[in-house]
Amino acid sequence: MNWNSGIRQFHRWTSIVFVVAVIFNTVMLVLGRQATWVGLTALFPLILLMITGLYMFALPYLAKSRTPSPARDAA
Ligand code: HEM
Repeated sequence: MNWNSGIRQFHRWTSIVFVVAVIFNTVMLVLGRQATWVGLTALFPLILLMITGLYMFALPYLAKSRTPSPARDAA
């Protein structure tokens, strides 16, 4: 498994953790037991998703700028 597919797998599984945390937040909200730490259980995986997601978003553009393109170089 290379570095990029490792990041993709991490993003994939963190998304499941995030979904569970959102459900947990909703249950705690309905029970009237809001607390800062409850909110943080969703915020932490969301921040990890944002960092890995933005990295994956940038990958195709980084790959293009690293691979020499004859058409672009000729222009
Ligand atoms: C917070 C900001 C997020 C950003 C910037 C982001 C960005 C991305 C990007 C760029 C991809 C790759 C798309 C491609 O195939 O080219 C991706 C894949 C994916 N994202 Fe996110 N994402 C974010 C949050 C989330 C959240 C909240 C979830 C679900 C709870 C999620 C679930 C997924 C899944 C399941 C994939 C597919 C992974 C795979 O191919 O195995 N992402 N995301």
